[in-house]
Amino acid sequence: MGGQIPRSFIDDLLARVDIVDVIDSRVPLKKAGKEYKACCPFHQEKTPSFTVSQSKQFYHCFGCGAHGSAIGFLMEYERLSFPEAVRELARELGLEVPQDAAPAATPVVDKNLFELLEQVARWYRQQLKNHPQRERAVAYLKRRGLSGEIAARYELGYAPPGWNNLERYFEPRGLLATGMLVESERQSRYDRFRDRIMFPIRNRRGQVIGFGGRVLGDEQPKYLNSPETELFHKGRELYGLYQARQSARERGILVVEGYMDVISLAQHGMTNAVATLGTAITGDHLRELIRHTPRITFCFDGDRAGEEAAWRAVETALPLVQDGLELRFLFLPQGEDPDSMIRRSGAEGFERLLEEARSLGTFFIDKLSSQADLRTLDGQARLIRLATPLLRQMPAGSLRELIVQRLAERIQLDPRNLARQLGLAGSSTVARPRGRSAAAGQRKPSAVRTAIALLLAHPELAQSAGEPARFAELELPGIQLLQELLELLQQNPNLTTGAILEHWRAREEGRYLGKLLRQEFLVPEDGVQAQFQHILEHLEKRTLEQQAERLLQKSRHGNLSSEEKQRLNTLLLALQGQAKTAESAQDSG
Ligand code: GTP
Ligand code: MN
Repeated sequence: MGGQIPRSFIDDLLARVDIVDVIDSRVPLKKAGKEYKACCPFHQEKTPSFTVSQSKQFYHCFGCGAHGSAIGFLMEYERLSFPEAVRELARELGLEVPQDAAPAATPVVDKNLFELLEQVARWYRQQLKNHPQRERAVAYLKRRGLSGEIAARYELGYAPPGWNNLERYFEPRGLLATGMLVESERQSRYDRFRDRIMFPIRNRRGQVIGFGGRVLGDEQPKYLNSPETELFHKGRELYGLYQARQSARERGILVVEGYMDVISLAQHGMTNAVATLGTAITGDHLRELIRHTPRITFCFDGDRAGEEAAWRAVETALPLVQDGLELRFLFLPQGEDPDSMIRRSGAEGFERLLEEARSLGTFFIDKLSSQADLRTLDGQARLIRLATPLLRQMPAGSLRELIVQRLAERIQLDPRNLARQLGLAGSSTVARPRGRSAAAGQRKPSAVRTAIALLLAHPELAQSAGEPARFAELELPGIQLLQELLELLQQNPNLTTGAILEHWRAREEGRYLGKLLRQEFLVPEDGVQAQFQHILEHLEKRTLEQQAERLLQKSRHGNLSSEEKQRLNTLLLALQGQAKTAESAQDSG
């Protein structure tokens, strides 16, 4: 999100940075005509379809559709958050990022704490190799079927027995701040983790932010985690994500419950698993996962608790399920967890189970249907009552439509009727392209849509577009967006395509703009001005027509004031005049 960084700074930053430099230093580019090309870093390809436009300060891949500004590129390529990407660009340009008066969203964390935890992790790893009691730890890992290679990949370590090991090597202030030391009432301090297998937890930038620790036997508690600190937030972080990032792109992500599940799956070649840290999955978790892949499968135990946890995940996910997202739910047989399952049936067996995972839509419908007797009218009414608050949280889109359709089948109701009862009918008033099917996509784009696309690709057109507000009353989808875009560009004539998109980053229309741009990226350079002017004239005419229509309608009820009558006459005359002068101009939709 834009957060606390002033908008003007972001505009300024994007005006100074050159996207070609930013990308070229990470993905070497070749000049091709006016643009630059490379093989796309976001999908596998042999011939380059990744294109960078210097004039537009925008990148775009014709293969996978990835696109965005220099900020967007860093976010995607280096897996940074928005403020992180802004800071990185600013750093490369030697600029300081100003903060708005409000307190910063993310507290500035002492860099040394990350460094400290990195060293502690290294020390635990050394103990697994050198400590006199290491054999017990090694034997434990072997018993769990882990190879040295996997232990190295997950940087497993050993916290030796003893209450005061860490303070001999590291300074106490940092150890306290990161929760590695526990302070008791009488000012005595001791190591939180003793005689445990240690799992370092890395954030998405690869920094160690905390640990999990497991006992070697049956002692309690079985697992200990670092406490919440300024570095470590369980509701945001996922164990194993750092290691899973690479395979996630190809294979999607598997969400499991435990550290050992992640590691055991990796031992069997499934390197794409992550675990929540003893909490239910949160919206932050999901948003983070979606940044890596649209294919996310949750694994749950086959018992009642598992099903309840799965349903909580559904409720968390509903507001986030855009089209293209594939959420699935796998329930393991009673008494199994992913670790025991894959050890029993091997990677192939596990893959077969995965194929049976239910989609979000199916799980949703099964679950609701099981809570109502659909043979009775009461039961059907109950189903609708249960579904209503849930479906209303979902963004409009094909998944929601599909669910409504399937629910309608179950209770033998017309889907449109059901949608109305659910309060979902006619929901999209924003400039969302109607229907996303291939056929609909091929329809001739509307005038408004074309105007927006032209402005995105050629922001300079806004300067000669006249007063944006004159279209305000026009009842056409997208007209508000057009007006807003014109106003923005007239006030900021130097915004490039990439910079414009940043203004819409946090808004739903942003995705729509990106999509338009993708389609119109190849708008020929000549004739653009004429095409744009033609559309403006068309919109002016539509405005006059709509005003006239409204007055005519009113006049049918016989109550036009004399002023209104005069206005209607003027309008009709103007329209006639336009019709004559614009005889040959065709209607652009
Ligand atoms: P193994 O016995 O090593 O296979 O562990 P598991 O992953 O099968 O453990 P389990 O299903 O019991 O727990 C799943 C996750 O819940 C663990 O990875 C921990 O994150 C968490 N957890 C389990 N037991 C405890 C505990 O005693 N205390 C805390 N804080 N968390 C626990
Ligand atoms: Mn287990």
